[in-house]
Amino acid sequence: MVHYRRTHDCGTLRKEDIGQKVTLSGWVHRRRDHGGLIFIDLRDRYGLTQIVFDPDVNRDAHRQAEEMRSEWVLSIQGEVIPRAEGMSNPKLKTGDIEVQVLELSILSRANTPPFSISDETIQVNEDLRLKHRYLDIRRGTVAENLQLRHQVTQCTRNFLDRHGFLDIQTPILGKSTPEGARDYLVPSRVHPNSFYALPQSPQLLKQLLMISGVDRYFQIATCFRDEDLRADRQPEFTQIDIEMSFASPDDLFPLIESLIQEILSKTKNVEIPAPFPRLTYDECIERYGTDKPDLRFAMPLVRIDDIAKRSTFTVFQDQLNAGGSIKAICVKGGADISRKGIDSYTQFVGTLGIKGLAWMKLQDSGLSSSIVKFFSEDLQKELIEQTGAESGDLLFMVADTPERCNQGLDHLRRRIARDRQLIDENAYNFLWVTDFPLFAWNDDEKRIESEHHPFTSPHHEDIALIDTEPLKVRSSSYDLVLNGYETASGSQRIHDSELQKKIFETLQLSSEDIYEKFGFFVEALQYGTPPHLGVALGLDRIMMVLCKTENIRDVIAFPKNQKAVDVMTQAPSAVAEEQMKELHIKSSAPKELTWT
Ligand code: AMO
Ligand code: AMP
Repeated sequence: MVHYRRTHDCGTLRKEDIGQKVTLSGWVHRRRDHGGLIFIDLRDRYGLTQIVFDPDVNRDAHRQAEEMRSEWVLSIQGEVIPRAEGMSNPKLKTGDIEVQVLELSILSRANTPPFSISDETIQVNEDLRLKHRYLDIRRGTVAENLQLRHQVTQCTRNFLDRHGFLDIQTPILGKSTPEGARDYLVPSRVHPNSFYALPQSPQLLKQLLMISGVDRYFQIATCFRDEDLRADRQPEFTQIDIEMSFASPDDLFPLIESLIQEILSKTKNVEIPAPFPRLTYDECIERYGTDKPDLRFAMPLVRIDDIAKRSTFTVFQDQLNAGGSIKAICVKGGADISRKGIDSYTQFVGTLGIKGLAWMKLQDSGLSSSIVKFFSEDLQKELIEQTGAESGDLLFMVADTPERCNQGLDHLRRRIARDRQLIDENAYNFLWVTDFPLFAWNDDEKRIESEHHPFTSPHHEDIALIDTEPLKVRSSSYDLVLNGYETASGSQRIHDSELQKKIFETLQLSSEDIYEKFGFFVEALQYGTPPHLGVALGLDRIMMVLCKTENIRDVIAFPKNQKAVDVMTQAPSAVAEEQMKELHIKSSAPKELTWT
């Protein structure tokens, strides 16, 4: 008789169970043949249990165990016995016992896996892991990440439910939403020449739910964006999407902070303080050169334009005259960085197009470097004071366009923190960044575009600037940054249809464009719209930080690779001529361009 109904899983048996008759089922993790006895580590999601085949107990089972290979699936009945004297394994939860096999059923045999399941330390090419993702998940790390992800979503649902938020699904086949990426399109068979767009986010729908009076909405929503992939980007990703009415950031921020506190407390046993610090976008860029600074370490950027202006260093003077900026960072204890080390940092910023990296070391005798001579004693004193440098520190300085100066020092700051191990890997440092510019200049297309999306409300004091200096208009938008990742983004929305129209006009959308793209939405705004705001948390990115991985694919069961390909199912793939015909589609690309 085949028996695989388990009495226990492979992670639960302990000393106290000795003497019990049990049924276990699982995979052969490792097999050791000791001549007489055969030991197998039997594995399931919950752990490993050592089972023993003794020819004197069941000769037939022992014979079959001789043939067994990794990843076969077994069910055994047996008796829990203590391990032999000195053979306990303290690394294993079940390490004090083993199960003497009385009966064996082989439930399925397995081919030799393309990579080791039992030794996770062996590095395996990622595409091979993704091709056999079901085996990769068996290895453990991804499975643990998925379990934590489950706990996080459970916790989120509970929390938002307790706070009156309704979990409402919105369609996947819909109309394009303007989040700034390219849409994934789905051709309609019934309506030739017409396409659905997969949602880049449920933005407009959640706003429409506010107009409906739903008041508090959330959804763990899949979003689709056809954009260039990076280590923290997938074409298909998940947001914890939230919207609420009759509220302001002063209601939303504490709510999100409590949600995150609860997630960290319940799933990681970590308590973090709230409220989270806030910086405006301008302050953030000034101090860290980026809108997503990693605050697990300090090393802020310090503007030294004013000091540089009074020096005689022509490199700095020339940059200032050309409208550039000069900023410094102070590397604590950095005076021990060698010439070679400095050269490699110079090369590093060079890859970002920065022409040089000035430096000064501060010792008890004062500042030293080839450029100190250009700074009077008073200026040196000011420099030390402004940067907070102490004896044993090193200053790095970059003079370049404001953008390159910020970008260069942001990269350098992070690189040095990594090199000098300044990052506490167990820390969770959150930061709200607020008041982003409403518009950005798209230099390629020579036009103004929305920095966030066109439904973001401008700052009330700045509305008058929309006509005169649109790029100076601040928005009521915010990002939540965690350890250097943008993990959430949201805004107060426009609830006045006239203001919404004005924003569309500033974006140079014609009335026809507005009507065609968002006509339904502009119309809805005119039927009584409550003030509302919302946010979307990037679940995958939060999971990356919680799972301590820099690879977004490690927290997704079946991710796409860096080329947006699902290497397991080989999607995307060519479809039959017949299907193309039904969809009224003719490809203009040569056949050999199909990647599969
Ligand atoms: P936004 O486009 O900023 O805002 O997205 C919100 C958050 O989603 C995450 N994210 C991604 N994660 C993985 N892969 C991607 N390709 C990807 N793109 C974005 C980020 C980001 O902060 N509708 C608005 C939200 C709102 O205004 O309420 C929106 O989608 O963590
Ligand atoms: P030079 O006069 O070109 O030999 O440069 C003297 C020092 O200034 C060197 O340490 C250079 O790395 C540094 N330097 C040159 N250009 C810049 C710049 N744009 N920003 C910061 N330092 C620079």
